[in-house]
Order: sequence, then C-alpha cells, then structure tokens
Amino acid sequence: MEYIERFAEDVREGLSSEPKYLHSKYFYDEVGDNLFQQIMELEEYYLTDCEAQIFENNKDEILDCFSDDGGVFDLIEFGAGDGLKTKILLNHFVDNNVNFNYIPIDISESVLDSLTEDLNNTLPDLVNKPICDDYFHALEELNKLDYNKKVILFLGSNIGNFRGDNAIPFLKHLGADMSNKDQLFIGFDLMKDPRVILDAYNDKEGITAEFNFNLLDRINNELGGNFQRENFSHYPSYNPITGETKSYLISLKHQTVRLEKLSQSFTFEKWEPVFTEISQKYSLRDIDHLANHSGFKVEKNFFDNKSYFADSLWHLL
Ligand code: AVJ
Repeated sequence: MEYIERFAEDVREGLSSEPKYLHSKYFYDEVGDNLFQQIMELEEYYLTDCEAQIFENNKDEILDCFSDDGGVFDLIEFGAGDGLKTKILLNHFVDNNVNFNYIPIDISESVLDSLTEDLNNTLPDLVNKPICDDYFHALEELNKLDYNKKVILFLGSNIGNFRGDNAIPFLKHLGADMSNKDQLFIGFDLMKDPRVILDAYNDKEGITAEFNFNLLDRINNELGGNFQRENFSHYPSYNPITGETKSYLISLKHQTVRLEKLSQSFTFEKWEPVFTEISQKYSLRDIDHLANHSGFKVEKNFFDNKSYFADSLWHLL
C-alpha cells in the first residue's frame, strides 16, 4: 500500500474508534522531526541528558561489554535521529581504534543524510554504513552480508511507544534475527516523581503541545482536513501504578471535522479525548519481565546519577 493510503486508513480507523486515537508514528514528518529536536533540548525533557550522562560516565565499561571477544562488531542503531548521544560512544570507540562498523537504520532518508554529513565532518575515521529501511528488513539484509557480532542500539526510550507487554512481540522478533554472541542495548525511562514526568510532557514553552498539534496540521495538509488547532488542547497524563504516560488532544467543543481524502467527516463531542501517544515508564522489575518474556537475559543495567533512566544490556537466553 502506498504510504499516503496507509496514513489515510490509519487515520480513518483511529478517528472511527471509541475512544478515538491517532498513531504517534505520524508525528515525525520534517516539522515533527524538528520539534522533537527542540524537545530534546528542553530543560524539562530530562531523558536525553540522562542518557548522555550514562554514556559519558560509562563509556569504558560499555566498550568492554560490546567488544568482549576483541573482534570486529557491527554497531546497529534503530531510529538513529541526530545521533547526538550515540556520538559520545562513537567518539570514544574511534579514539580507541576499536574495529567496528556503525550502521544507523532509519526509514527517513533525510534523517540519515544529515547524520551522515555530520559524521563525515566530525568523525572522518568512522566506518559509517547507513541503511534506509524498516528495522527488521534491514536486519535480515545485514544477516545475509556478514557474520560479525551485532550490537543493536534502541535508545532514548523509544521502546516506550509500545504499551506494556506489547513490546514483547517486537523484542521476540528482534531476538529471532540475533545470534548468541549478539547484544541488545535498550534505553528505558524509569518511574520517578510523577511531577517530573508530567513536566517533561508539558513543557512551559509549549513545544510538546506544538509537537502534538503538528499531527493535526499534517492531517490537514496531506489528507485535506479542516482541523482547527485552537479547538483542541494538549493534555498529558501519568499513571504512577502502570507507568503509562499518555498524551491526548482534547476537543474543546462539539465539532465536526471533514477529511477530503477520505470523503468522510468525524464528530467530536465537547471534552472528547483523542489519544495520540504513549511513553511508557518502567520499574527495574518491568525491565526484567520484558527481557525474560521475550527470550533475553539482562546482562547489566547502566544508570545516570539520579537513576532517572537506564540503558539495559541484553543477550539471548
Ligand atoms: C521519542 C518516543 C522517546 O516518548 O518521550 C517526546 C517522544 N513525545 N515528547 C517520548 C516524545 C513527547 C519520545 N520518544
């Protein structure tokens, strides 16, 4: 199916559901990528700084874990983005003449192009082999190419976009494409003071709200919609029992929105929520549970100074 047809179908399904929802994967067009960059620089959005601190403080030990057999390895990054945090590790590895290939995987060509340009300038000695594809397809192709040890990075708590146990099928699929010597290094945002978490998704400057509203702009632009963003309000919530951090767009009035591309209208009640994103927060027990139920074993967890975030190193059971 053509990308735009998929988008249209997903929006139709989401807005016809009860409760209504929209897929967070559609946040990331060019405007959305840019807004997420801005989010990562926000005071309130602690995740990025915490993970950078973990890498900075543990780069020697992380290197020891990745190159435990001393041979060449492929450092494969899922959803590389601007690679800012990863560069802490890449720099350190290159400085130590480590024999490895960096393989960022992303579905966005423009993201990979700007990352590659930056790496060519700042790290000319790095062996960079970007792949523009979806994660699993890229992994399968890689498996046909060589038998290098693979270390797969899935950073930034991107895994949090799966709700609870929904990450398990994804992780199992990953495991099926890995061998016994390979490792998985996953970033998890941990449970903490609920206020700290809420602030991270409700920044004072309103960039996160803008990020959420961008979804409506996108539907307007690409699917001929007539959403009016002033008729909606950005609302984040955190459930300290389940760790679910959910964002919504709340309809501020009874309204009907028309989507030309679908030849269909959707009615929103006053105060009706549209669920747009989950950013799951984890306990250490949750991390063990996820690993054990998807065929992995936790080798080691790395933490920042406040233990707000964990990067967890796994291998197959
Ligand atoms: C990129 C999915 C990790 O959930 O924290 C940031 C996206 N949403 N602010 C997250 C996001 C609102 C982010 N992830």
